[in-house]
Amino acid sequence: MSEAGRLGGKVAVITGGALGIGAAMARLFAQEGARVVIGDLREEEGQALAAELNAAAGRRVAVFVRADVTVPGDVEALVAQAGNAFGRLDVMCNNAGIGSMGDSVALDIEQWRHVIDVDLNSVFYGCKAAIPALRRAGGGAIVNTASISGIGADHGFAAYNAAKAAVINYTRTVALDHAHENIRCNALCPGWIATPLTSGIMGIEPLVKAWCDAIPMRRPGRPEEMAQVALFLASDEASYMTGSAVVADGGLIASNGQPNIPVILSGM
Ligand SMILES: NC(=O)c1ccc[n+]([C@@H]2O[C@H](COP(=O)([O-])OP(=O)(O)OC[C@H]3O[C@@H](n4cnc5c(N)ncnc54)[C@H](O)[C@@H]3O)[C@@H](O)[C@H]2O)c1
Repeated sequence: MSEAGRLGGKVAVITGGALGIGAAMARLFAQEGARVVIGDLREEEGQALAAELNAAAGRRVAVFVRADVTVPGDVEALVAQAGNAFGRLDVMCNNAGIGSMGDSVALDIEQWRHVIDVDLNSVFYGCKAAIPALRRAGGGAIVNTASISGIGADHGFAAYNAAKAAVINYTRTVALDHAHENIRCNALCPGWIATPLTSGIMGIEPLVKAWCDAIPMRRPGRPEEMAQVALFLASDEASYMTGSAVVADGGLIASNGQPNIPVILSGM
């Protein structure tokens, strides 16, 4: 087995790995020497991605497992597949998630529960299943995909904001509880990223303009740019990082919201 690459010899599980940020993680991790277990609801895309990665590597470096992250047994089976297929687990990426709009009155209780299930409870199921396997490997890394929507709030995203904020603080508690076992746990907090999740709004010109006006880098992020952050957090390069919430958002939340005073004054 090749040990080359920033994840050489390591085995990673990626939930929500068939599309978007998770698929970019699977591609990059495999390029960097990892063997990956891709978990997702979307069988066709997940199988196609695993086949693509295996063909590119010329050996079996990827398997797809159909798993619903809201079902604890599915998540356990997904994590077990890392051991069955590749003999160990070193990296767990709890990445699957869904968006959800609605304020506290508009959201019905079932919608709220579903978002909390997919975006928060799944992260607990993933950590609960992965930590014993990471222990057996002598330690490892967990990367939870949260969001800048877990740091500040959005208008009309009550359940999503609650879930993502909880993922960030849950990440910290996992970091505290398992540091002594050489298990690191960090959260990736993307800003606005062009993925299938956000493709619906990419055609809404006033929204795209407002977003680009607010983002200092003036553009959405790419899934590959999120995968690079996840790669760093998953790799031994981040050996002294645990409990962090790493923001990758083109500078969107760097501002405290005050106007651009020098620009306004220079135009007077
Ligand atoms: N795209 C963004 O702008 C953005 C911003 C901040 C955070 N995020 C977060 O990044 C993560 C990935 O988002 P994305 O933009 O790549 O989304 P995406 O919709 O493009 O991909 C998400 C993947 O998760 C899978 N998935 C959804 N529900 C699942 C379930 N119950 N079980 C298993 N798989 C399931 C989907 O099938 C899909 O393949 C999510 O946690 C999301 O909240 C995205």
